[in-house]
Order: sequence, then structure tokens, then C-alpha cells
Amino acid sequence: MKPELPLEVYLPDSGNTDDSASIAVDCLTREQAAKELARLAGTIAYHDRLYFQEDTPEISDAAYDSLVVRNRQIESRFPDLRREDSPSKRVGAPVSKGFKKVKHRVPMLSLENAFSAEDVANFFDRARRFLSLGTTQTFDIVAEPKIDGLSAALHYQNGKLRLAATRGDGSEGEDITANVHQIATVPQILQGENIPESLEVRGEIYMNRADFFTLNQQRVQEGEAEFANPRNAAAGSVRQLDASVTARRPLRFFAYYYEAISGDTTATHYECLQNLKKWGFSVTPEIRLCHSLTQLEEFYTTINGKRAEIAYDIDGVVYKVDNLAWQRRLGSVGRTPRYAVAHKFEAEKAETILEEINIQVGRTGVLTPVAHLKPVTVGGVVVSRATLHNADEIVRKGVRVGDHVIVQRAGDVIPQVVSVVTEKRPANSSEFVFPSCCPACGGEVVHTHGEVARRCMNGLLCPAQAVERLKHFVSRDAFDIEGLGSRNIESFYQDKLIHSPVDIFTLEERDKVSLTPLRALEGWGSQSANNLFEAINESRKINLDRFIYALGIPQIGSVTAKLLAKHYRTLATLLTAMHQAQNHTSDAYQDLLSLDGIGQNMAEDLLGFFHEPHNLDIIHKLHSHLIIPEFIVETLSHSVLSNKTIVFTGTLEKMSRAEAKATAERLGAKVAGSVSKKTNFVVMGADAGSKAKAAAELGVEILNEDQWIELCQSLGKK
Ligand code: IVH
Repeated sequence: MKPELPLEVYLPDSGNTDDSASIAVDCLTREQAAKELARLAGTIAYHDRLYFQEDTPEISDAAYDSLVVRNRQIESRFPDLRREDSPSKRVGAPVSKGFKKVKHRVPMLSLENAFSAEDVANFFDRARRFLSLGTTQTFDIVAEPKIDGLSAALHYQNGKLRLAATRGDGSEGEDITANVHQIATVPQILQGENIPESLEVRGEIYMNRADFFTLNQQRVQEGEAEFANPRNAAAGSVRQLDASVTARRPLRFFAYYYEAISGDTTATHYECLQNLKKWGFSVTPEIRLCHSLTQLEEFYTTINGKRAEIAYDIDGVVYKVDNLAWQRRLGSVGRTPRYAVAHKFEAEKAETILEEINIQVGRTGVLTPVAHLKPVTVGGVVVSRATLHNADEIVRKGVRVGDHVIVQRAGDVIPQVVSVVTEKRPANSSEFVFPSCCPACGGEVVHTHGEVARRCMNGLLCPAQAVERLKHFVSRDAFDIEGLGSRNIESFYQDKLIHSPVDIFTLEERDKVSLTPLRALEGWGSQSANNLFEAINESRKINLDRFIYALGIPQIGSVTAKLLAKHYRTLATLLTAMHQAQNHTSDAYQDLLSLDGIGQNMAEDLLGFFHEPHNLDIIHKLHSHLIIPEFIVETLSHSVLSNKTIVFTGTLEKMSRAEAKATAERLGAKVAGSVSKKTNFVVMGADAGSKAKAAAELGVEILNEDQWIELCQSLGKK
């Protein structure tokens, strides 16, 4: 489907009075407005796809913005006509199909952000404590620019480029080998000595600013839409299904990391960068080996100062612990390593007009005010919405509809309204009154004493909450169903095709007997419907941690979900334990609290969730459609620590408690906070207190710190 889209059709006064598309917003009847909103939704979605997925935009950014603005103006005249698939609700573009998937051997992590010198100091303090380093021990850090491009993993076999992949979701990316073969600064064959037989190099694909401007000029001459910024241009150019298009784009690559499968004895990150250069890679020249926090700050200030002179866009600097053995010990938590941090440059700011404040209702009923802005370019990206966080923030900042406001955007963070330009306040502005009823369901809004958030208490009866929970259920760390993104969830909910997560797994069956099967709906065909059913079927086998996370239990994020999965292993065990733990004097309750990472407050939310009959009913129904294998913790096969419960007590001197815990978990053990009959080992540091006594009474095996380290080393070698 390719709509006819001469721009003027969408603007008022185009002279075409037969079509609602040509009528000024103020003159639209209700019926015309509904028709126009439907068409704008389709049209904007079409352009989004061209821009984000196919990199072949047909209209200019300004023309696109005018569509978005018109849509919003109509919605603000007829708020009740706002569609579930309205572009004003759009959250990012879906991933395009067409590239083969590549599983990363080692996950491609992202970086924790630091926004001040203090954040940086805290980061390295934490690393120092984790490694139990003395305060006088030197601590080399490599500082590098944070290149604003897209990361890629390049695999070399015997010095030849064999495979290239995008980062994707960190675990799985897309095969872009054919396109990377076209990038001049990527060596196709490595040079020099000591090239590991099997090597994975990671780095950033980017475009120089000058090349980006030239490319845009060419595009304008050829009547094509300009790219918004170099990163966008690089991303669009890499994700071309036709590699000859990529070949014509001025892409470059900076390497910043490698891993040899075996045989490399390099000891520091700095040396790795030198090796990469010797083998023929470009490495950003702005790199400094720093020996103190002061040097890091100097680096930050210098690079920030010469940002405009640097040929490519950077959005901060990255600091990495130089010692690779320490990097390995530090490991990662969730999706970010403990050995590196990104010190971001101050956010880019711009002034615009706040046209409207809307309230968004989240998964747990929290009401979030969202500012709708006159579109403005901030750091190369058009921003038309920004978060206002909560009611208190609106009061604190004194924001009113109609105000001139300063908005900022930093990296991938949601744009924010920073402050009001009060001198420019229009005379007729009035304070925003936070609703006392939920805008989605009309339910009561409760402001619990001591909490910032205001919540709709209607739970799943509130359509906004129900939809948000469904979106969470299919999200990346949960069921991750391709083709079932936010917009499809919204329209399926509206069309009553999916109301509960269980409906996802009966969709295909119901579709077979439906009078209006999916393939007959607008925007769907047999192929896309089949793809969706296939993706749903693939998701029926799911790991317990993802399943727990998908349930959307308050406070239970993916890290805690994994902890619970590791501990309980099967859904049946988890359910039994949650049932028994409702009694706070039970062993099951103690067992839950003994998990390192579960506090009382979290335990209450968990137990509250599993107490609710409706939730249990959904879990049981879901279970009948799913395969949830026993959760297997990947461990060294014959580790004496596999599946054992270990408790640390007292002060460890050579290893921090955090490192001890991370190491124990890596070797397959569960770490508990208190000693019980189920404890297998207690590791006792100096000044151990009651836990050591309890261990002795229960006859649990006790190790001192040296024995513990010896055990870890012997297991680590296997
Ligand atoms: S290191 C585990 N070094 O920033 C750390 N990343 O926010 C892996 N990036 O996905 C990355 N310049 O795309 C590293 N000098 C640099 C970088 C850099 C840009 C990007 C990279 C990564 C993202 C993390």
C-alpha cells in the first residue's frame, strides 16, 4: 500500500474542499475529523516505516512534522477521537525483517551513564571496593571518546572478515556482513603479527559530519529526504538490504574492543587498542591512558572543548579499567559492565512552546504528565513530546500550557522539560489541574501519602493499564514476540482480539473461525498474519525468568526475576512457595527473605501478586499454552558449588562481598543472606558474628577466606 501523498493535501487551504484532508482543522466536522485521523495514522505509519526501517523517506522532515502537528491539532479538538494507533502514542519503530539473525557469543553490553565528576568518582569507588583494592593502589583507566554511531561485531577467521552483526538487543543482532564488506575503513584481511586465529572485534560504525553534510546535499539535489543527523544516516545506510546502496554511503568504523577465542595474552585494554591498530583497524586517535581521576576530568574537559573540531559526532567519553584481568573479575550486572562507564556531555537544549499536557497511564496505574510541544530540533532530532514526570514536578517547575519552555535531550533518554521562560508567558495561561479521575477509565486517582506518584486504582479494568501490561508481557526481556509491538497490541486490544495475555496464545485458533480474520484487516496480509502466528508459536517455549518478568509484578525487574527463577527452578515450585509464604511464620517466607536481593518490601509485592486469584487464574491458563522448562543455571559441569547455597559472613579481605557473590553465582551457587538448614557452605571472614555461630550449630561446612579463594581458583581452572 502506497498512499498518494502530495504534501499540500495535508495542509489547510489547499483548495481541495471535497476531501477532509484539505480542510483546516478548525472547520472539520466530527465525522471528517475521525476520517482524517484514521488516514493520518496510516500515512504517518507509512512514512515512519520508510524512514526508520527502509531508509527511503519520501518527504522532508518539515512535511512529516506538519502531518504530525495536524494529527495532534485534530486530536486536541476532538480528544475522544484519539485512536489507539494514533501516531501521538507511537513508541519507536519496529525492527525490520529481512536480515538473518546472529546470536552473539558474548552479549553486547551497553554502558552505565555518569553525568558528573561525582558520578564518575562513585563508579570507580564501587569498582575499587568490588576488587578490594587499597586506596593507594594505582588504577589505570583508558579514556576514549564515545562515538555516536551504531555498534557492530566483526568476526575474523584466520585474519579474514567472515561475519558482521549489529548489536540488536545485545544477545542477538542482524547479519550485516555484505554491507560491512563495503566499508572502506573495515579491514577485510588483517595485517601484522600475532593475529588470533579466531577473533571478534567490536566497534562503532559512524559517518563523519562533513561526509554527512555532503550526502545530504546530494540527496536534496536528487529530490530525496535529508537524514536528521550522522548517526541516523549511518544506521540507515548499514541497514540496507541492498549492499550496493551501503557501498555508496561514506561509512567508517572505529574499533574499540576485541576478544580472541584463544591464544591471546594481552594484559591491558590499552595494548589491545595498539594491537587493533597494528592489524589494520582505525582506532580513534583521541585516547588517553589515565592514572588518576583528575586526569579523567582533564580528558573530559579537553574533549568536550574540542568537540566541534573532531570530525565525527561524540556524545560523551568512555572510561574503561585498563587491566583486563580486573575487567574479567568485575564482570557485568544486568546489561552493563562494572568496568566501564560513559561520562555524558551535557544534554542539548532548545526552546519551544508547550501546547498541551496529556496524562499517560502506565502499567501499574501511575499517571505521568506528558508535554506536547511545538516540534523543535534538539541535537539533530525533532522532539514533539517530553515527560513532565509527575504532578509535583509540574508545580515545582511552574509549567503552564502555552508557556515557552526549555527542553533537553541526552542520548536515548526521553526528552525532558527543564524550565519555563517565564518572561514569555502568555497573559491567558492557567495552572494545570492534575486530574482526580483516570483519563483512560474514569476511575479514582489515589495519591498515597509519602509517594510521589498518583495512581489509577482500577487495575486491569482500566484499559490503559491493561494495554500497558500486555505491552510489557510481549516486550524484549519478556516474551519478545516479533510483530506484536506496541501498536499492534493497542489495536488488538481495541478490536477485542487480545484482552488478556492468554488471548495471545489462542489468537491463531480463533482467527481460523473468525468472520474477519487478521489477513482481512487493513495493513495485514496472509504473510504477515502467518509471520505473527509463527512468532507467537516460537515464544511458547519460554524460560522461567522471562516468564516471571513478563507477569509484570511490581518491583520485579529482569534481574530479580532471574534470581527467583534460579532459586525456585520450576513454576510449580515457585507457586507452591508463594502460596506457603503467605504465612509469614513459614519456612517458605524465611526462605524467600533469605535470598540476597529480596527485601521485605519486595517480598510483600510478590506475595500480594500471588495472593490475587485473578493473577493465579491467568498463570494457570497461560501454563496450559506454554512450555516452561526447569531453569538451568549455566555452570561448570562438575562444580562442587553447583546448586549449593552459600552464605558469606564477616569481612573478607582479598575480595569484596560483591565480588565473592558474583563469583559464587558464576560457579553455580545460590547466595543467601542468612544461615538455615538449606545452607551448604558458610564463608567466614574476619569478625564473623551470629551467622558463624548458627552455621556451627547446624553443622554447616565453614570455609575461611583463603579456602574459599582456593576453591574458586580450582573451579575456575576446570
Ligand atoms: S565500549 C561494554 N567504547 O556506546 C562496553 N562503546 O552505551 C561496550 N560506544 O553500545 C562498549 N563509543 O555502541 C565503547 N569508545 C567506546 C564507544 C562505545 C561509542 C557505544 C557503543 C555501545 C554504547 C554503549
